[in-house]
Amino acid sequence: MSRIAYVNGAYVPHSDAMVHVEDRGYQFADGVYEVCEIRHGVIVDLTRHLDRLGRSLGELRIDWPMSRAALAQVIRRVARMNHVKNGMFYLQVTRGVAKRDHVFPKAGTRPSIVVTAKSTDPKIIAAKNAKGLKAITVPDNRWERVDIKTVGLLPNAMARQAAKEQGAQEAIYVDRDGNVTEGAATNVWMVDADGALVTRPAEHGILRGITRTTLQDVAARLGVEIRERKFSVEEMKASREVFITAATSICFPIVEIDGHAVGNGHPGSMSQKIREAFFDIAEKTSI
Ligand code: PDD
Repeated sequence: MSRIAYVNGAYVPHSDAMVHVEDRGYQFADGVYEVCEIRHGVIVDLTRHLDRLGRSLGELRIDWPMSRAALAQVIRRVARMNHVKNGMFYLQVTRGVAKRDHVFPKAGTRPSIVVTAKSTDPKIIAAKNAKGLKAITVPDNRWERVDIKTVGLLPNAMARQAAKEQGAQEAIYVDRDGNVTEGAATNVWMVDADGALVTRPAEHGILRGITRTTLQDVAARLGVEIRERKFSVEEMKASREVFITAATSICFPIVEIDGHAVGNGHPGSMSQKIREAFFDIAEKTSI
């Protein structure tokens, strides 16, 4: 079955989906994106993802490529056309095509928009969840505006690659004070000695993950306390349980960090409980 992508107004075969060589996303990473889970044939937390898209666009002063309602229709259609029951959609908006110049192009330049969707295998995600992942820690060498979900992901790609080369699946960023910020493409959580969930405040230094936000609703439902505060690498390594969250996977347990086992070296019960409750509580939009 051939995949279909939406590119600047047209639904085209994925293999022919292209943007111009002078797209500012290509030349300056001048664009933003969203990744959103599709599960059991529904889109998970679409409202919050579109809210964040609006915020990212606003922070960079990029116009919406179309109305929010029209964009939701495009997303649903791309998901349908690709027969995605379990998987994700990806959307990217850039400042558009213009002669290469660092300053913004003239007002009225049309933003570029791309939407794709793909299926993922729930069995592979379940297997990863059962086994747990390994992580390494790396210095956080990104720019200060990591609260904006931009396509400027070179440091993140390099960190993930470093993790891979060390036999791990995620790189956890550490700030100059030795505190954990977030993963290369995930938010990081630990369970403290009281059984409370600890995660870094999202005001500065991390992306405010949508999974992170919905997990706050899940924790409230489960009666689990969340403590938003900074925590050090040492504290994380000595904690009962560590897990990471992202829209693509809800949460994955981290069983080893920098070669040291977390807890008893097996996936903890908290991430399991959260994963089980998450889908019921998250917003669901039919495709
Ligand atoms: N990444 N932090 C970073 C740096 C991320 O790139 C992501 C998501 C998150 C989690 O955000 P959310 O819960 O909204 O997915 C945190 C996506 C999945 C990606 O780049 O593929």
